[in-house]
Amino acid sequence: MKIGMIVYSQTGNALNACEKIKPVLDAAGHDVTIEKVEIKRDSPRSTAEITITNAPDPKKFDALVFASPVQAFSLAVPMQKYMQTIGDISGRKTALLVTKGLPFKWTGAAHAFAQLKEYTASAGAEPAGEIVIWRSHSTEQDMLKAAEKLKSMFAAQ
Ligand SMILES: Cc1cc2nc3c(=O)[nH]c(=O)nc-3n(C[C@H](O)[C@H](O)[C@H](O)COP(=O)(O)O)c2cc1C
Repeated sequence: MKIGMIVYSQTGNALNACEKIKPVLDAAGHDVTIEKVEIKRDSPRSTAEITITNAPDPKKFDALVFASPVQAFSLAVPMQKYMQTIGDISGRKTALLVTKGLPFKWTGAAHAFAQLKEYTASAGAEPAGEIVIWRSHSTEQDMLKAAEKLKSMFAAQ
Protein backbone atom coordinates (compact mmCIF):
# COMPACT_ATOMS: atom_id res chain seq x y z
CA MET A 1 0.00 0.00 0.00
CA LYS A 2 1.24 3.50 -0.78
CA ILE A 3 1.36 5.23 2.61
CA GLY A 4 1.94 8.95 3.05
CA MET A 5 3.19 10.12 6.43
CA ILE A 6 2.35 13.80 6.33
CA VAL A 7 4.13 15.61 9.13
CA TYR A 8 4.47 19.09 10.52
CA SER A 9 7.41 19.26 12.93
CA GLN A 10 8.76 22.45 14.47
CA THR A 11 11.68 21.02 16.45
CA GLY A 12 12.07 17.56 14.91
CA ASN A 13 10.26 15.18 17.28
CA ALA A 14 7.24 14.40 15.09
CA LEU A 15 9.56 13.96 12.11
CA ASN A 16 11.83 11.69 14.15
CA ALA A 17 8.82 9.54 15.15
CA CYS A 18 7.83 9.18 11.48
CA GLU A 19 11.41 8.28 10.55
CA LYS A 20 11.46 5.56 13.24
CA ILE A 21 8.10 4.14 12.13
CA LYS A 22 8.72 4.21 8.36
CA PRO A 23 11.21 1.27 8.17
CA VAL A 24 8.77 -1.02 10.01
CA LEU A 25 6.02 -0.23 7.50
CA ASP A 26 8.47 -0.51 4.58
CA ALA A 27 9.55 -3.95 5.86
CA ALA A 28 5.90 -5.02 5.88
CA GLY A 29 5.82 -4.39 2.12
CA HIS A 30 4.35 -0.89 2.07
CA ASP A 31 5.71 1.96 0.00
CA VAL A 32 6.08 4.72 2.60
CA THR A 33 6.86 8.37 1.89
CA ILE A 34 7.36 11.05 4.54
CA GLU A 35 6.20 14.45 3.32
CA LYS A 36 6.70 17.61 5.34
CA VAL A 37 4.25 20.44 5.82
CA GLU A 38 6.49 23.49 5.61
CA ILE A 39 5.74 27.05 6.61
CA LYS A 40 7.15 30.51 6.88
CA ARG A 41 6.31 32.75 9.79
CA ASP A 42 4.79 36.05 8.72
CA SER A 43 5.19 37.66 12.13
CA PRO A 44 7.85 37.13 14.78
CA ARG A 45 5.24 37.95 17.45
CA SER A 46 2.37 35.66 16.49
CA THR A 47 2.49 31.88 16.08
CA ALA A 48 -0.83 32.13 14.19
CA GLU A 49 0.49 34.30 11.36
CA ILE A 50 2.07 31.82 8.99
CA THR A 51 2.04 30.89 5.31
CA ILE A 52 2.23 27.27 4.21
CA THR A 53 5.09 26.92 1.74
CA ASN A 54 4.74 23.17 1.18
CA ALA A 55 1.34 21.43 1.36
CA PRO A 56 1.74 17.70 0.57
CA ASP A 57 -0.96 16.21 -1.67
CA PRO A 58 -2.66 13.42 0.32
CA LYS A 59 -4.49 12.11 -2.75
CA LYS A 60 -1.29 10.46 -4.04
CA PHE A 61 -1.57 7.85 -1.28
CA ASP A 62 -3.80 4.88 -0.44
CA ALA A 63 -3.34 5.41 3.29
CA LEU A 64 -2.31 8.36 5.41
CA VAL A 65 -0.70 9.19 8.74
CA PHE A 66 -1.13 12.81 9.82
CA ALA A 67 1.56 13.74 12.37
CA SER A 68 2.01 16.97 14.34
CA PRO A 69 3.10 18.36 17.67
CA VAL A 70 0.66 19.58 20.30
CA GLN A 71 1.16 23.29 20.91
CA ALA A 72 -0.69 25.39 23.48
CA PHE A 73 -3.00 22.46 24.34
CA SER A 74 -4.10 22.23 20.70
CA LEU A 75 -3.04 20.92 17.33
CA ALA A 76 -0.10 23.09 16.14
CA VAL A 77 -1.50 26.00 14.11
CA PRO A 78 0.47 25.16 10.93
CA MET A 79 -1.09 21.67 10.93
CA GLN A 80 -4.53 23.20 11.50
CA LYS A 81 -4.00 25.40 8.46
CA TYR A 82 -2.67 22.53 6.35
CA MET A 83 -5.57 20.22 7.27
CA GLN A 84 -7.97 22.82 5.86
CA THR A 85 -6.34 22.38 2.43
CA ILE A 86 -6.45 18.58 2.04
CA GLY A 87 -9.69 18.26 0.06
CA ASP A 88 -11.44 14.90 -0.29
CA ILE A 89 -9.51 11.91 1.10
CA SER A 90 -12.44 9.51 1.34
CA GLY A 91 -11.66 5.82 0.90
CA ARG A 92 -8.22 6.13 2.46
CA LYS A 93 -7.26 4.43 5.68
CA THR A 94 -6.08 7.16 8.03
CA ALA A 95 -4.17 7.33 11.32
CA LEU A 96 -3.19 10.22 13.59
CA LEU A 97 0.03 10.79 15.50
CA VAL A 98 0.82 13.61 17.90
CA THR A 99 4.00 14.40 19.80
CA LYS A 100 3.93 16.36 23.01
CA GLY A 101 6.03 17.44 25.95
CA LEU A 102 3.77 17.00 28.95
CA PRO A 103 3.08 13.42 30.02
CA PHE A 104 -0.73 13.52 30.25
CA LYS A 105 -3.24 13.14 27.45
CA TRP A 106 -5.36 16.01 28.84
CA THR A 107 -2.50 18.47 28.28
CA GLY A 108 -3.43 18.82 24.64
CA ALA A 109 -3.43 15.40 22.97
CA ALA A 110 -7.16 14.81 23.36
CA HIS A 111 -7.92 18.27 21.96
CA ALA A 112 -5.42 17.86 19.10
CA PHE A 113 -6.95 14.48 18.15
CA ALA A 114 -10.46 15.99 18.27
CA GLN A 115 -9.33 18.79 15.96
CA LEU A 116 -7.63 16.34 13.57
CA LYS A 117 -10.79 14.21 13.53
CA GLU A 118 -12.92 17.21 12.62
CA TYR A 119 -10.63 17.94 9.66
CA THR A 120 -10.51 14.31 8.49
CA ALA A 121 -14.31 14.00 8.87
CA SER A 122 -14.74 17.08 6.66
CA ALA A 123 -12.41 15.40 4.17
CA GLY A 124 -14.45 12.17 4.21
CA ALA A 125 -12.19 9.94 6.31
CA GLU A 126 -12.51 8.39 9.74
CA PRO A 127 -9.18 7.75 11.47
CA ALA A 128 -8.67 4.13 12.51
CA GLY A 129 -6.01 4.83 15.13
CA GLU A 130 -4.32 7.42 17.34
CA ILE A 131 -0.73 7.45 18.59
CA VAL A 132 0.81 9.74 21.21
CA ILE A 133 4.58 10.14 21.41
CA TRP A 134 5.83 11.93 24.56
CA ARG A 135 8.95 13.96 23.81
CA SER A 136 10.96 12.77 26.79
CA HIS A 137 9.02 9.70 27.95
CA SER A 138 8.65 7.62 24.78
CA THR A 139 11.39 5.06 24.31
CA GLU A 140 12.61 3.32 21.16
CA GLN A 141 10.39 0.46 22.31
CA ASP A 142 7.35 2.78 22.31
CA MET A 143 8.19 3.91 18.76
CA LEU A 144 8.33 0.27 17.66
CA LYS A 145 5.01 -0.40 19.40
CA ALA A 146 3.51 2.57 17.54
CA ALA A 147 4.93 1.24 14.29
CA GLU A 148 3.45 -2.22 14.95
CA LYS A 149 0.06 -0.64 15.71
CA LEU A 150 0.11 1.20 12.38
CA LYS A 151 1.32 -1.93 10.60
CA SER A 152 -1.64 -3.97 11.81
CA MET A 153 -4.06 -1.13 11.00
CA PHE A 154 -2.82 -0.87 7.44
CA ALA A 155 -2.66 -4.68 7.03
CA ALA A 156 -6.35 -5.02 7.80
CA GLN A 157 -7.26 -3.33 4.48
C1 LIG B 1 4.98 26.77 21.37
C2 LIG B 1 4.92 25.39 21.98
C3 LIG B 1 3.80 25.02 22.69
C4 LIG B 1 3.72 23.73 23.27
N1 LIG B 1 2.59 23.37 23.94
C5 LIG B 1 2.49 22.11 24.47
C6 LIG B 1 1.28 21.68 25.13
O1 LIG B 1 0.30 22.42 25.26
N2 LIG B 1 1.24 20.42 25.64
C7 LIG B 1 2.29 19.54 25.52
O2 LIG B 1 2.19 18.43 25.99
N3 LIG B 1 3.44 19.92 24.88
C8 LIG B 1 3.55 21.17 24.35
N4 LIG B 1 4.69 21.54 23.67
C9 LIG B 1 5.77 20.56 23.51
C10 LIG B 1 5.75 19.93 22.12
O3 LIG B 1 4.46 19.41 21.80
C11 LIG B 1 6.76 18.79 22.04
O4 LIG B 1 8.05 19.29 22.32
C12 LIG B 1 6.72 18.10 20.70
O5 LIG B 1 7.41 16.87 20.81
C13 LIG B 1 7.37 18.96 19.62
O6 LIG B 1 7.26 18.30 18.38
P1 LIG B 1 8.15 18.77 17.16
O7 LIG B 1 9.61 18.62 17.60
O8 LIG B 1 7.82 17.82 16.05
O9 LIG B 1 7.84 20.20 16.84
C14 LIG B 1 4.79 22.81 23.11
C15 LIG B 1 5.93 23.21 22.39
C16 LIG B 1 6.00 24.49 21.83
C17 LIG B 1 7.23 24.89 21.06
